[in-house]
Amino acid sequence: MDQTEAEGRIKYLSEVLDKHNYNYYVLNSPIIDDYTFDQMMDELIRLERNFPELLHPASPSQRVGSDLNSEFKQFPHKYQMLSLSNTYTEEEVKEFDQRVRKLTDEDFEYVCELKFDGTSISLTYENGLLIRAVTRGDGEKGDDVTSNVKTIKSIPLKLKGDFPAEFEIRGEILLPFAVFDAINLEREESGEQPFANVRNAASGTLKLQNSSVVASRKLDAYLYYVLGNNLPDDGHLELLKHAASWGFKISEHTRKCKNVNEIFDFLHEWDIRRKDLPVATDGVVIKINSTRLQQELGFTAKSPRWAIAYKFKAEQVSTVLISVSYQVGRTGAVTPVANLEPVLLSGTVVKRATLHNEDVIRNLDLHIGDVVFVEKGGEIIPKIISVDLSERHPMNERINFISRCPECDTMLVREEGESAYYCPNTKGCPPQLKGKLEHFISRKSMNIDGIGSETIELLFQNNLVRDVADLYELKDKDITNLERLGEKSVSRILESLENSKNVPFERVLFALGIRYVGETVAKTLAREMKSIDRIAASTFVELTEIDEIGGKIAESIISWFKDEDNLKRIERLKKHHLNFETQVESKEGQTEKLKGLSIVISGTFENISREELKTFIELNGGKNVSSISAKTSYLIAGENLGPSKLEKAQKLKIPILSVDELLQLTK
Ligand code: IVH
Repeated sequence: MDQTEAEGRIKYLSEVLDKHNYNYYVLNSPIIDDYTFDQMMDELIRLERNFPELLHPASPSQRVGSDLNSEFKQFPHKYQMLSLSNTYTEEEVKEFDQRVRKLTDEDFEYVCELKFDGTSISLTYENGLLIRAVTRGDGEKGDDVTSNVKTIKSIPLKLKGDFPAEFEIRGEILLPFAVFDAINLEREESGEQPFANVRNAASGTLKLQNSSVVASRKLDAYLYYVLGNNLPDDGHLELLKHAASWGFKISEHTRKCKNVNEIFDFLHEWDIRRKDLPVATDGVVIKINSTRLQQELGFTAKSPRWAIAYKFKAEQVSTVLISVSYQVGRTGAVTPVANLEPVLLSGTVVKRATLHNEDVIRNLDLHIGDVVFVEKGGEIIPKIISVDLSERHPMNERINFISRCPECDTMLVREEGESAYYCPNTKGCPPQLKGKLEHFISRKSMNIDGIGSETIELLFQNNLVRDVADLYELKDKDITNLERLGEKSVSRILESLENSKNVPFERVLFALGIRYVGETVAKTLAREMKSIDRIAASTFVELTEIDEIGGKIAESIISWFKDEDNLKRIERLKKHHLNFETQVESKEGQTEKLKGLSIVISGTFENISREELKTFIELNGGKNVSSISAKTSYLIAGENLGPSKLEKAQKLKIPILSVDELLQLTK
């Protein structure tokens, strides 16, 4: 295919993929299947790789994210990003209305909107292209998270229709409940701390350094505020309708209200209906519709005079605490769980509530038989908020955290600085052993789909498997006679074990279940270290030199490899030919010419972006590092090179190269 043909094909694929993205993510009505979509996307990516000069920054391929780390730069907001003042009662809403009516004589309308509970974002579009996405930050300036935001499929990279040449649009980035639940399940499986609520999960995700992980998290976004000079209407709701026609996702649940009674109707209706929404809302925003009147009323130091937030009360119910059970996870962490008299809360029957750790029990001074108030934390996981002391019976027994493991009777330990108790019997405590096996077979690890939790239980009960390496030594005859396992299941088990030998190193590493080595850390380690032997031989300093690997992770890795049993397990798994090295795909232009070199990039460049430069360095075996030290091999200097970097490089006598000189090195 020549350049002109490629150009036509890229244009066609981009348009079609944009349209399908819009149908799927904004209108929620896909019209093609995932497979066809992926095929077209693959073709586009291939063409753009072959003709890099045809890669447009708004191309739908840019939404898949990149594995490169980006450091967020701060960017000033053109219009300050203020928050809203909150009200909690209808009385306060009435007072707001009276305040506004004192400030103006004209007749006006309100718009009521849902208050989405995520993280706010400001998007700038120029000539129909998304050019920048900035978080709220301190209101004056925020983090430039454009590359992460580009992965959010409901945010258009390119607009349609009759849009203003330049404007900003603000909204909320959200993590739908279903995605939140799935992420937390995964985090628990891999021993990571689950997110406390959807808001933290959304903002945590948006700030991730790795945009391909962001892409996998499936964020969504609703937009609610258009700003600019030449906007097509002076009504807020009308502007939102225009924005919908340009391709933005705008909530349909927005309504004009003439007076406070109509506002109250909206509040009552949505306090109930919001429970059916796929995303979290924590209130209603009441705004004056006329943007002209908005301007007239202006802002106080902290918030607009023309809008207010009404916050929903989190629903609370009272019930009786029957008992506390203790669950032991894969890592040995012991989590207390309250067993409650079943009670209806926000549409679901609640029987259990999380107690997190000993401190929570102690702070609530919980006693068995207490009448407790339960609330859904961030509307998801129920938690105990308080105890109704007037209902406490003098005979109610205080709850003391257990001192021995409920599963294996080992004395529990609580390390300094940790809130959790752990069962230290990592090699004998049944739920820890089974938990490790379950983690090993899970989809994100070795993906041994012929085996599920029930099979693990069966194999464990029959003393066939205790260690993950035992799985690969299972023989047909060992398992055929087990109850509930038919011939078909047996062959599926053996086949999926065999298939798992092709799983790449990064996932094998994650599957080993080293504490604090979650999916992302495993990926980073595999990329930087390339083999298990190198990781095993690494020192604390070598590990912490890798971006994203902190002291806690490094210590955990080092102590894991000090354990003879872990080393034996790796030797056994190696004999079964699992991948313990990173397979290097040979890419076009790849060399080893920069191998062993640590290169710092500073400033901006005319013909190449910093991301591209980073890719180039890595493609040629070099390492791009962010700060200059005595170990730095070169500083690649662009325009507006940071003065402190320059000074440090000169002091340490680090050679300073231009991009051209760097390119010469790889020739
Ligand atoms: S309007 C000048 N509308 O709530 C005020 N905000 O404390 C512009 N939010 O920072 C904000 N849903 O993150 C507006 N429909 C909505 C909203 C909304 C959620 C968030 C936003 C803002 C915070 C206000």
